[in-house]
Amino acid sequence: RNVRIIGVPMDLGADRRGVDMGPSAIRYAGLAESIEGLGVACSDWGDVHVPRPEGSDPDAGAPASGTAKFLAETETVCTRLAHEVADAVADGDFPLVLGGDHSIAIGTAGGVSRDAETGIVWFDAHGDFNTPATTPSGNVHGMGLAAILGKGPFADTDWAPAPNVAEENVALVGLRSVDAAERPNIRNSDVTAYTMTDIDARGVTEVVTEALDVATDGTDGVHVSLDLDWLDPTEAPGVGTPERGGVSYREAHAAMELISERAADPGRLASMELVEVNPILDRHNQTAELGVELAASALGKVIL
Ligand code: ARG
Ligand code: MN
Ligand code: MN
Ligand code: MN
Repeated sequence: RNVRIIGVPMDLGADRRGVDMGPSAIRYAGLAESIEGLGVACSDWGDVHVPRPEGSDPDAGAPASGTAKFLAETETVCTRLAHEVADAVADGDFPLVLGGDHSIAIGTAGGVSRDAETGIVWFDAHGDFNTPATTPSGNVHGMGLAAILGKGPFADTDWAPAPNVAEENVALVGLRSVDAAERPNIRNSDVTAYTMTDIDARGVTEVVTEALDVATDGTDGVHVSLDLDWLDPTEAPGVGTPERGGVSYREAHAAMELISERAADPGRLASMELVEVNPILDRHNQTAELGVELAASALGKVIL
């Protein structure tokens, strides 16, 4: 399969500026070269157009109650992205999406699941399970998974809920920062959530194996959504919302290698996204380079 790179220089879903430069930083870190080095064909389709915040009204498209900043623009961007991702899948390509803040997952998930039952493994320090009613920030990147699953007012939109993603096939991995009002949203849902405590107790191999069981159970494919803040900030300092106590470099590679092994199975890897890379906050280009390495591991890179 040919890998199709799609950039989304989106920063409207997060408070801190800079994640819009994530796609450039990841490309600069050698993404295409690294994939080609695996013997996998790779084509870069450039970036989806994203409006500038300066010319946008943060309150446009706001829900009837609660807050969700730049929701109108988020809808526009995610609708475009879903189209690009669905086109890639229809052409037999593997979509590799580069963020941008994590709100873009709404577009990726919508596109990849257009004609296929899709499980999701969501690697993240955060739940991204807020709704406009529970969000402490109003930032849509903290609501992405809730939107994909049609929670709260997202249920009444035609663009946010992913067409073929069942809650039972979604696994969150690596949680260590969940807002008080966000907790019941996760606990009362049918997603499976693994915290850092679970990884401490059971090890990353067992946890990720189980997460993949959840995401492959009865599905046609799995979407891997990798928020770089899943890793410890010592490894991934260039992210908008760093949280101490994340997974190590080795644990992250172990997880990606497990994903690569499953790619040959029926519940195979359908798509992947790397999000929340913020080069302004990075040390050199360490976090983008790490993202490239992890994508390579997920796509089949082995040591020997
Ligand atoms: N839970 C916080 C919020 O809703 C932070 C979310 C961070 N999300 C992310 N994709 N980095 O604002
Ligand atoms: Mn088209
Ligand atoms: Mn996230
Ligand atoms: Mn996060």
